[in-house]
Amino acid sequence: MISLVILISGRGSNLAAIVAEVEAGRLPARIAGVLANRPEAPGLRTAAAHGVPTDVVDHRQFAGREEFDAALASAIDRFSPDLVVLAGFMRILGNTFVRRYENRLINIHPSLLPAFPGLHTHRRALAEGVRIHGCSVHFVTPDLDHGPLIVQAAVPVLDDDDEATLAARVLTQEHRIYPLAVRWFAEGRLKVCDGRVLLAAPQAGDAALIAPATG
Ligand code: GRF
Repeated sequence: MISLVILISGRGSNLAAIVAEVEAGRLPARIAGVLANRPEAPGLRTAAAHGVPTDVVDHRQFAGREEFDAALASAIDRFSPDLVVLAGFMRILGNTFVRRYENRLINIHPSLLPAFPGLHTHRRALAEGVRIHGCSVHFVTPDLDHGPLIVQAAVPVLDDDDEATLAARVLTQEHRIYPLAVRWFAEGRLKVCDGRVLLAAPQAGDAALIAPATG
């Protein structure tokens, strides 16, 4: 069983989705700790309600990114995690930090990368008129939102969508694929090769698990 540290900045619905899978016995992982860069992040309460230890490393208390990154790394390492999970963590992490957790640091991004890296993905998807949108889980590299892709889920963009309806449809898929990516990591099935992720030991149900959503 692997141990996780989950990093959040806000709501924590992806955190809650992972907690639910762990508690249901479908994810062979232990959540060692949840860290936030904001003391008011609502997800901290979710973690505490499920008996998960929490800590805050407030970025506003540090002179610069390097100092913040170093303090964050110390807080993470106290839990000795096998995997660090960014779940709505809204700080850009420097190269030294990212390299320290190479191939054991993952992120979820609300677009079908490499389309729409960065912020306001749903607004930009609507402005571009794309017909298919979605979300991606990827290993984190120093190149923001460009690391090797682990799993993606697609959703249709409907004519009457606004940012909120599209975000909600994507979020439902985030909650499905993030625990799935963590499970694959926990099972030792993810290999990074030439910047691509290979899923080892393919199983009969995999195709159904990653099939695009139709609703
Ligand atoms: C999600 O849309 C995630 O893809 C993005 O930030 C949002 C976090 O939501 N990185 P939550 O805090 O997990 O509810």
